[in-house]
Amino acid sequence: MSADFFRAKRPWSKYKDSILEYYLEPYIPKVAKLGKPVLIVDCFAGCGQFEDGEPGSPLIVASTIERWRKKGMNVAGEFIEADKDNFRTLESSLESYEGFVHPRLGRFEDHIGEFAIRASRETIFLYVDPYTVKGLVFDRMKQVYDQIERADASVEVLLNFNVATFMRWALAALRRVEELPDDATNDDSDYQADDPNEQVEIATLNGIAGGEYWRSIASDGALSFAKKLDDFTEVYARKMLASFNHVCMYPVKSKYEHQTPKYMLVYATRHPDGLELMNDAMCNARQQFLGSQFQNGLLFDMTPTTEVPNIAELKKALIEMAQEAGQITRKELRIRALSSFFCRFAQKDLNQAINDLLKSRKLFSDTGKTRINDNVLLSSQPFDR
Ligand SMILES: C[S@@+](CC[C@H](N)C(=O)[O-])C[C@H]1O[C@@H](n2cnc3c(N)ncnc32)[C@H](O)[C@@H]1O
Repeated sequence: MSADFFRAKRPWSKYKDSILEYYLEPYIPKVAKLGKPVLIVDCFAGCGQFEDGEPGSPLIVASTIERWRKKGMNVAGEFIEADKDNFRTLESSLESYEGFVHPRLGRFEDHIGEFAIRASRETIFLYVDPYTVKGLVFDRMKQVYDQIERADASVEVLLNFNVATFMRWALAALRRVEELPDDATNDDSDYQADDPNEQVEIATLNGIAGGEYWRSIASDGALSFAKKLDDFTEVYARKMLASFNHVCMYPVKSKYEHQTPKYMLVYATRHPDGLELMNDAMCNARQQFLGSQFQNGLLFDMTPTTEVPNIAELKKALIEMAQEAGQITRKELRIRALSSFFCRFAQKDLNQAINDLLKSRKLFSDTGKTRINDNVLLSSQPFDR
């Protein structure tokens, strides 16, 4: 199955790639302001390009880096690939980016210690897209995050976790395979290099999950497969919060009605700006996904009503959040709103909603103006002037 992987890009991979590209574009100039060189590490790089000519993550990353280098930013890329044949293709596909893009033959595990050390001098973004779930050992990843944190550096990670494969293995290990739904086992599932029928040891599952919590979730007969995936990912995200301040995720699906995502993209950062940039990138991917199924080429917009952003609900929540906070900056209010509306509203929509509330005097600004910047204090009560 792994040999087939690079033959043609899977249709749903375009959402994963779009999130990566959409995020990196503003991320690079933003973190460049920290004054340190910026390093993008594609930890499981692959071939660079698919046989159908579609770019893989290395080409997406390299071309974004090139654009910003031309504008004077100090940014470079490292691309790690363990398979010799894939590495040869990777090297040739990255040839035209020589000088600031470095392909490395070897295993991510063997190289990553060096990046953790370099983190004291560089700002690092890790893209982790293994095609086997076993490539993600929680504690090994955590060591890297924490080593980078000790260096007091900025680190962000975007990782692709095939949670359906994990849960399928988990159910098999607990002898509960009868609970698998059709869309987790049909041919359309994205198992990449993993064998979904493999009997995986409990210790290996503990290593991937970073604990035994998955067992109670997998063995809870009252939870549907989809709910098990949600609960598992929620605890996994909470565990990442030990190393980061913000963790968010996006389920990559091929069809809206599918209960089982192809995989989960998990993003973690210490900085609220990163969360906002990723929210915009994931909102954009979600719009593309909904548009491809419910709008493009159709006479009417067929988007399910539950997916249409509810501005009234957002505004009500913004007022309540401002009431609860007493006084809060526009930026802080937006970040709070993301806890309930992540991937629903982009930053510009949140600003627009705040602006409308100022104009209709449901919110008030410290400056008394309705055109404000991120640092202006807001309140649900007029300020004494
Ligand atoms: C899913 S593919 C990456 C696809 C790539 N992100 C893209 O968009 O084109 C995963 C790649 O990781 C490589 N790989 C597997 N184990 C690895 C390891 N331990 N370290 C580095 N690369 C590894 C595989 O050979 C494969 O080419």
